[in-house]
Formats: sequence, C-alpha cells, structure tokens
Amino acid sequence: MTANELRKMYVNFFKERGHHEIASASLLPENDPTVLFTTAGMHPLVPYLLGEKHPQGTKLVSVQKCVRTGDIDEVGDDTHLTFFEMLGNWSLGEYFKEESIGMSYDFLTTCLNIPKEKLTVTVFEGDELVPRDEVAARTWKSQGLQENQIFYYGREENWWGPAGQTGPCGTDTEIFYDLGKPSCSVNCGPACHCGKYVEIWNNVFMEYHKKSDGSYEKLRQKNVDTGMGLERVLTILNGYTNVYETELFLPVRNKLDEIIAVNETKLSEKSKRIICEHTRAVTFLLGDSKKIVPSNSEQGYVLRRLIRRMIRHLKQAGIEKNVLCKLAKIIVEQYGCLYEELRENELFIMEQLEKEYNLFNKTLDKGLKYAKLYFDKIGEDKLLNGELAFKLYDTFGFPIEFTIELASEMGITVDVGGFQHKFAEHQKKSRQGAEVKFKGGLSDQGEQATKLHTATHLLNGALQTVLGTDVFQRGSNITAERLRFDFSFPRKLTKEELDKIERIVNEAISKHIDVLCEELTVKEAKKSGAVGVFDDKYGEVVKVYTIPGYSKEICGGPHVRNTSELKVFQIMKEEASSAGVRRIKAVIGITKTF
Ligand code: ALA
Repeated sequence: MTANELRKMYVNFFKERGHHEIASASLLPENDPTVLFTTAGMHPLVPYLLGEKHPQGTKLVSVQKCVRTGDIDEVGDDTHLTFFEMLGNWSLGEYFKEESIGMSYDFLTTCLNIPKEKLTVTVFEGDELVPRDEVAARTWKSQGLQENQIFYYGREENWWGPAGQTGPCGTDTEIFYDLGKPSCSVNCGPACHCGKYVEIWNNVFMEYHKKSDGSYEKLRQKNVDTGMGLERVLTILNGYTNVYETELFLPVRNKLDEIIAVNETKLSEKSKRIICEHTRAVTFLLGDSKKIVPSNSEQGYVLRRLIRRMIRHLKQAGIEKNVLCKLAKIIVEQYGCLYEELRENELFIMEQLEKEYNLFNKTLDKGLKYAKLYFDKIGEDKLLNGELAFKLYDTFGFPIEFTIELASEMGITVDVGGFQHKFAEHQKKSRQGAEVKFKGGLSDQGEQATKLHTATHLLNGALQTVLGTDVFQRGSNITAERLRFDFSFPRKLTKEELDKIERIVNEAISKHIDVLCEELTVKEAKKSGAVGVFDDKYGEVVKVYTIPGYSKEICGGPHVRNTSELKVFQIMKEEASSAGVRRIKAVIGITKTF
C-alpha cells in the first residue's frame, strides 16, 4: 500500500460515515501558547473540543502534519521521528465509545485487511476518580476480540492529554499490532517496550478539561479524538522493519546515497537516517505557512538545532559543499502536491538553508577542532566543563545539545549545570553593558534555564517527600525547553505519586517563596541538612540554596529569587534511565513543552 492510498482510504472511510475533511493546520499552534509545535491532529481543534461550534460540523477527519521534539535524540532508530503525519477523526459531542471503536475495528480489518488476531488493545483500568472503562472493553469483545487481546492499564498508559498544560483530555483505548514475536516475559504486554507490540491508533474519549490549577472539570460534551501514525502503519502494512524503508523516505535516501557516492565517501546507517529525517522536518518547518526561521529561541532554536545537526553529520562524511538544498528539494517535490505551502515557500526554504549553512560552516571546522582539543585533554572524570561547553556555544555556535552529542560519541559527559551557569553570567554581563546584544533569544534561554534549575531543586525535594529520603540525584540536564532529572529508585512511579510530586512543586510555586542563598563550609552545609551528591568536587566553602519548607541543596546556582517566577510546573514523562535509576522530564511556565 502506498502512503497516498492510505491517506485517501482513511479520509474516504470517515467521509462515507458523515465526517467533513479539514485541511492540515500550521505546525505552529494557534490556540495554545503552552506548546511549541502542533503535536497532534486535535491541536487545532481545542476550542471545539471544549464546546465551541465548528463551522464544518460535529464529525471531522484530517491528515495533520505534526512535530514532536521530545524524541530528537532517538531519531535514527526504527520508528522515532520529529516530523510525522497523523490521520485522525473526531466526534465533537456526537458519537462516543461504541461507534468510535466499531469504526476503527472496521477500518483496520476491512480496509487494511489486518487479521483481528493481530490486534491487541489497551483499556483504562479505573482509579479513584474515573471507573474502569467497561464500555470500551465490552465493545472490543463484541467485535470479536478475545479476553487475552485486551489489557487494562492505569493513567500512565490509558489517559491522554491535555496536549499543552491545560485543555481537553480523557481516558483512551490504544490499538496495537502484534508483530508475532514471542512474549519477552510473563508481564509482557503492549505497555512494555520489547518490540512485540507496535501502537497504531489511539482513540481518546475526551470528557474532561484540565484547568491551570491542575484540577479536572467534566466537559459539557463528550468527544472522541483519534490519531494514527501514517509512517508507522505504512511500515507495518508493507512488512518493513523501519520507517526509512517506506516510500516516504526512499527519494531523499536515494539522493543522499547519490551524494555520498559522488563524494566517494561513507556514512553510517544512523547518520543517514538522521539526515533524511531532519531534512523532511526542516523543509516542513521552513516551508510552513507561518514561516519558521532559525534563531536562538523557541521554535527557531529547534529548527537551528536540526539543521546544524544535519550539517555536522554530512561533514563527518567529508561532504563539504552545501547539499541541504538538494535534499530539501526532493521533499518539496515529493510532498508539494499535498502540502502546497512547500512549493509556495520553496525559494524561502532554499534561502534559509543556504544562509544557515554559511553561518554555521564558517565556525564549524574550527569549533570541531577546538572540541577535539578539549576532549583530548579531558581528565579521568570524562566530564567537559561548563566553561568549555559555553565557549563552543558562544564562539562557534554549537547548540548545547550538539556538544552533548559530540561528547557522548567519545564517552564524555557535559556539565550542563556549569554551562547554564556560564550562560547566566554572560547574560548578566551583557545586560550590564551599554548595549544589550542578545536581546530576546539568548537571554530568554538563560532565564528559562535558571527557572528550570530552581524547578529541579523543588522536584528533588518533592521526590524525597513522596518517595522517601533514600532517593538521590543521579544526573541532571537542563535545556531551554525542559529539565531532565535522574534519580535512584527501583520501580516505575505510579500516577498518584507523580500527581503528588507535581502538586507539591506547584504548591511551592503558588506560595511565592523567596529562594535563599548562604555560604557555608561543606561540614556546616551537611549538618544543616542540605543535600548534595557531588561532595568531592566542591571547595571548602559552598553555596547552599534553600527554599524553606521544600528544598535545601548545595549548589553553585544560579536560581530565581522567588518561586512565583516559575508560574507552573508539569511533569511530561517518567521512564527508566538505567537499572535502578528513573528519569523525569518536566517543563515550567506557559511557553514551553514538547
Ligand atoms: N491525540 C491523540 C494522540 O495524539 C489521539 O495520541
């Protein structure tokens, strides 16, 4: 099956069932200041899911372009993408669970000819707020699914939304394709990541509205919001093992292989995949009707990161000429019929790629030389200090994530906290100068990082309150967009624990507490109850930051003056990092999310 056949089949199936087709919206969401990009088909429909009347009616279908940046580091494996197309259908207060499941089942088994034995579904198991979804389970059974094809999970698996920090959300039923591999353990199920089950469709039953204070309100209308990943389904239907084998990536991949051959060079499979994937994403970002340009903040920063990463991977193969335009042209040709904005903005796309290439190419070689020099000199701790990471950023334009990737290839970690510190120092200096050179972008990033740093302290404190004082920090990484915190803990956290942690941090924010800083000797600091794991790296006198009632930590800073500056804190993800170590990703404020 081709991508176009699948898109058409999906849209027509729902049109025949009374749905109106709506066009893909921009990659920049209009109605939600809490996210950077359109991450799902429901995004442009938020006001209508909340009750506003949609001009096209109450049943809708679309193919929506989406960008999700949370998995940039995973790109290169078989399935993770930054850009993808989502096939979706909606009921705005019309049909609900039974009809939605019935239509999904029909589409999968009749149109796509997937045998029902290959399907496995998950259903909400119920908690103290919302009961087990018996209707969904019963409906699946009535379609002919056996009990062992239905799995029940809690909120972490079977609750979706809101897409930003507030908005419509609810329980869902997820549909998986069973690849037929043996179960990895007795607990093997769709929630495990062993590769047996691939999620193909998600039907969300949106009955709730999450408000900014974290509470849930029942919506006036019951909605259905579904989403199916085009690339993934195409991969499965054609019996491929990864998305790069589909026709969606073949043209750009062929062009890349041709360029590599002409240059008589070689590139690893992973680098090739990253280049192909990012080519598609940056072409769509630059070609969007709202024209996103590379910059040092928000969406522009993500775009810059992607372009610079591509340039570096090409350079690894010794490809010195700017070939970005040649690659992007393939995407414009391939997708231009469906997404006219790509053709309309073709010139702009090419100009911007040329500009960004020239800007970065000037400093890249020198930067790489310096980076190598720094790496070669690194001590036994295998840690690149913040000052050098900042130098690579400031002098050579290396986004911090770029340096982290370079370093990790050499088994080296980057002191991101130290980088943030330098960043903030630099920012302070530029503010004091007569001319504020980095207005906007850079200073925004520095401020955001400082806030996230304070949020990290509050999170660490809340973890201790909820999970016990045995929990200790194993790592921390802050970007302009989010914080990432690794800590020792033996199991997955429950939804209740995560909610509690989030609540405690938000409580501290809402109390408008001043952040205090004092200088103590390590001994005094420890005695005062301050936590801090990197003892031996500290000098005799250390700074201790206290947020009374919530946190006391040895730390170099910087931090915000008052917790109110954080506005709101939200956990985005909790997952395993390594054996016995869990990882939380979280965001703050109202302008950032994945
Ligand atoms: N909005 C739902 C999702 O993105 C369908 O999974």
